[in-house]
Amino acid sequence: MKDEKFYKPSKDIIKSANVKNYEKYRQDAIIDLEGFWEDAAKELDWYKKWNTVLDDSKAPFFKWFKGSKTNIVLNAIDRHIKTKGKKVAIIYEDEKGRSRKITYSELNDEVCKFANVLETLGIKKGDRVVTYMPNIPEQAIAMLGCAKSGVIHSVVYAGFSHEALRKRINESGAKLIVFADGSYRKGKEINLQEIAEEALKKAPSVKKAIVVNNLEKKPKLNDKRELIWDELMEKASNKAETVKMDSTDPLFILYTSGTTGEPKGVVHDHGGYQVGISRTLKWVFDIKDNDIYWCTADPGWITGHSYIIYGPLILGTTTLMYEGAPIYPTPDIWWKIIDKYKVTVFYTAPTAVRLFMGLGDKHIKKHKLTSLRLLGSVGEPINPSAWKWYYEFIGKKKCPIMDTWWQTETGMFMITPVPTMDLKPGSAGKPFAGIQAFIVDENEPHEILRPEEKGLLVIDTPWPAMLTTLYNSPKRYIEKYWKDIPGYYLTGDYAMQDLDGYFWIEGRSDDVIKIAGHRIGSAEVENALVSHKDVAEAAVIGVADELRGEVILAYVLLKKGVNGSPKLKDELKQHVRNEFGPIAVIKDIEFKDKLPKTRSGKIMRRVLRAWSKGEDPGDLSTLQD
Ligand code: WT7
Repeated sequence: MKDEKFYKPSKDIIKSANVKNYEKYRQDAIIDLEGFWEDAAKELDWYKKWNTVLDDSKAPFFKWFKGSKTNIVLNAIDRHIKTKGKKVAIIYEDEKGRSRKITYSELNDEVCKFANVLETLGIKKGDRVVTYMPNIPEQAIAMLGCAKSGVIHSVVYAGFSHEALRKRINESGAKLIVFADGSYRKGKEINLQEIAEEALKKAPSVKKAIVVNNLEKKPKLNDKRELIWDELMEKASNKAETVKMDSTDPLFILYTSGTTGEPKGVVHDHGGYQVGISRTLKWVFDIKDNDIYWCTADPGWITGHSYIIYGPLILGTTTLMYEGAPIYPTPDIWWKIIDKYKVTVFYTAPTAVRLFMGLGDKHIKKHKLTSLRLLGSVGEPINPSAWKWYYEFIGKKKCPIMDTWWQTETGMFMITPVPTMDLKPGSAGKPFAGIQAFIVDENEPHEILRPEEKGLLVIDTPWPAMLTTLYNSPKRYIEKYWKDIPGYYLTGDYAMQDLDGYFWIEGRSDDVIKIAGHRIGSAEVENALVSHKDVAEAAVIGVADELRGEVILAYVLLKKGVNGSPKLKDELKQHVRNEFGPIAVIKDIEFKDKLPKTRSGKIMRRVLRAWSKGEDPGDLSTLQD
């Protein structure tokens, strides 16, 4: 993985950087953590200032900016109206070439209208609203409208199927769901309404469902609870008060996969979150007033929450939302978009970079890409060869690559370069100012390891955009993140720090599989497999894949008398697509007579991993049989 050559930033990059003496900030923040984040908070608006920057009296339930009153919408929209009302906030385009530009003042109108729609429907502060939409402006409007009203949003990625959607609706007890009728993807029409309606069949908490008409035909209403977005919005007033929230009041829940079949409802607040994401975005992507910023993620993931919607809007930036796949309708569609809108900052995932790398440079040569100033990478480790290709062919050797390591739980970049830093391809750089990360031994007593030794990545001091709890499961919050390595936040990743202090992320240490940067819990896929009538038991692991980073290898024990035919394999793959969603890419299924389990019935994935590589599984003394 390692490549010791440094890539140095150009003089221009250094000269124009928002932060020039970054290393000094990093050192100072170690001594005065609260001072560092307080300075960041002072760049934002508050209805009422805080009494304390960080209250750790009930750790690990840390409270940032306690005593303050704010709302993330105050900073993302309200404060820009006077000075930036006419500036474009959101550029939208889809694979059919449909496009829209929405100014800050227009965005404010829409968000106010949606806040009023919520009020008309009786949705109040603290209620939960689930959204299920592709990357379209209505997704942003719904999220911001909820935030403005103090309503907690829970976005479900539109690549999840009805079962996953239903689970997330019921877990959050949502009163309202806002979904799109569909989306165009690679020339096909994806019917999201059908999936949402299937989920709604067993979602008793949902009182109303709003259908956003994104397809080029009128949606039919099939459930008594359904209402049409356009009709509601048309009637609503474009004036609404932004609700004054406590800093620690929840802004959203975002379900993410962990080690069990039950997704974790990660909760982020209004106050600390806005401080963490705005400071990191401003410093890492060096955001300037004239930037056109494009993050290719989807709002269904944390990347979209923090760095397509909230972060860029807080900084008053123009953020681009593209609804579509990377190489459709043409392999160069993304480069066309960059030239068309003169994108300056481009943030994507390693899997996309590898996809383009595989196509060669002929599609890129047709485009100038001269507007680009900075590049970013997120979601999984980027292999040095992909990094170098990205640097050379997209960045033309003049755009530093910000390989940002972070998580749904951290809310913001944690380990990342800044533009003035020397870079090493494949390394995520150093902990951001105010962040203290360590590598500890996997075995007790979990000592801090020396450079070049691989171990568990942990975070020492709290940070403002951190999760505040797991929804309805404060005990699980403590158990998952704070118990195993006392005194530290456990990230779930393996990592190594080199002699220069650079961090190298080496993948997950738990049962989470990262497919094309998407986070998938092995237990959730196993549940989907077991729900098939012919399957008795199932166990899955992630195996390396050149394009997607990881894909799934499934071991399946069939019910008595069922034959493991190739046809059944295909059927099971399709079954997982239906039950869980197409993002759970299964490479292969192997039928087995027995699965390796401990006496307490826990699947020994270590044995499965050895099987998949044709290696010796080692000590089997704890095996049941
Ligand atoms: C996991 C978190 C945070 C945005 C998207 C993913 C992996 C994330 C990197 C990176 C190596 C990375 C880690 C992490 N990851 N960024 N730059 N280099 N690995 O959020 O779905 O919560 O997944 O993604 O394994 O724990 P997420």
